[in-house]
Amino acid sequence: MDRIAFSVNGTACSVGSEVDSDKTLVDYIRRELNLTGTKVMCREAGCGACVVAVTAPDPLTGQLKTFSANSAKIWSAFRSSPGAGHGEDKARRMVSVESLLTKEI
Ligand code: FES
Repeated sequence: MDRIAFSVNGTACSVGSEVDSDKTLVDYIRRELNLTGTKVMCREAGCGACVVAVTAPDPLTGQLKTFSANSAKIWSAFRSSPGAGHGEDKARRMVSVESLLTKEI
């Protein structure tokens, strides 16, 4: 299984075969990165508690798109676009609620 590189709130991350293909983004950021601001409720994409923002190249056009992801499997969120592992990894990023802490209000 290829590795996928992306950033979470600006911090570089990389996942490979050590990460279960069924692992969700929210479980990854809560357990592996200790970012517990994103919550878990239904685990069925019904409540929106676990929503994060993901930016990745569109699989059809290759243009960067930012979309909300809830209950998304970590692999499908970042692997759905062409070019994985071929220089586009730097464009793949995710932001969670913790990213708001760095903004001046
Ligand atoms: S926990 Fe309900 S949508 Fe993710």
